[in-house]
Amino acid sequence: MLKKLSNNQKKQDKLDNFKAEIVINSPGRVNLIGEHTDYNNGFVMPTAIDKKILFYLKSNGSDQCNITSIDYDASVSFDINVPDPDREEWTQYLIGVVEEIKKLGKTLKGFDCIITSDLPVGAGISSSAALECGLAFGLNLLFDLKLEKLQIVKLSQSAEHNYVGTKCGIMDQFASVMSKDAHVIKLDCQSLEYELLPFDIAPYKLLLLNTNVAHNLASSEYNVRRQECEQGIAILQQDYENTNSLRDVSIVQLKQCKNKMDDVIYRRCSYVLQENERVLKASEALRNNDLNTFGQLMYASHEGLQSQYEVSCKELDFLTDFSRSHEQILGCRMMGGGFGGCTINLIHENAVDDYIDEVSKAYFAQFNIALTAFTTIPAEGTTVLENNL
Ligand code: GLA
Repeated sequence: MLKKLSNNQKKQDKLDNFKAEIVINSPGRVNLIGEHTDYNNGFVMPTAIDKKILFYLKSNGSDQCNITSIDYDASVSFDINVPDPDREEWTQYLIGVVEEIKKLGKTLKGFDCIITSDLPVGAGISSSAALECGLAFGLNLLFDLKLEKLQIVKLSQSAEHNYVGTKCGIMDQFASVMSKDAHVIKLDCQSLEYELLPFDIAPYKLLLLNTNVAHNLASSEYNVRRQECEQGIAILQQDYENTNSLRDVSIVQLKQCKNKMDDVIYRRCSYVLQENERVLKASEALRNNDLNTFGQLMYASHEGLQSQYEVSCKELDFLTDFSRSHEQILGCRMMGGGFGGCTINLIHENAVDDYIDEVSKAYFAQFNIALTAFTTIPAEGTTVLENNL
């Protein structure tokens, strides 16, 4: 495990001396609703947030790539022609990006890169997508590769599949790159068509509560859920031959196949179909400024993730249950892949401080773990902060 350093002045000196050609802001993301639906060709509602990884980049005229994370005092160096991905996990995201860019027939050269971040790792707010997309975005500019934003999104997702081993959907990378300030994205993961919905929720705020647990089931169970959905699709195909994903069947059709399915598979598939409907209803609620309905849909999403899809954990369930008795909170759910990370809460601005105080004490009393809490807002996707080329 990498250990975080905290000497801010030293860090700033390093960055000032580096003389970057390009500085990229690569944000994390939240997801309002639509969990585990992206790899099922369904709907999601994410947005980039105001927490990010910054990339300071310059080319160095050699074949050598040198990447340093100043927050963790960790670095990796490799030859652009022989990257050798068999190293610590954080480096695999980056080497994966380099390799996926090369697979597209683009020519890369050596570069120096410093990374600094205020995105908590393992909190379910996609530090991995920010890492992948930020490097891809930066190298695209540095070497004038002429990659479209959507290519950056897709190659970053492939880096995670092929070099890290998580068969993630497209939501995190899409949100990190494509988001617009003050909006959430309603994304159809089948067609990749999307709508930017204004996110004007005053006097409510988004509050993230980080359980500070990351159960190691997360990545193995993630891939298992994908396989379970595929098993469901194989059974549905026997009756509905044009079924390529769970997007192609209705809840009624799924019910008709119930007796052919193992109960676990049926619950996984039902969850996905119901969650897709919830995203559509939540978009309507947002358009109508009906935050009460939006909040109820968040709670229903959590219940599905807890009991049908089974990707929650006792810490996330505790925080969600705790919120229910607070009428200033309209909705709460676990967010991201599950088995740890954050809950996302829709809470009245006047209640934020007191609630953080109260829930932190209760959480500590229950689990002996300190909670981390922060409010967040929708932010612009990947941006160029400096371009000295
Ligand atoms: C992780 C994955 C995403 C998505 C979520 C669950 O964040 O990277 O693609 O599947 O889990 O919604």
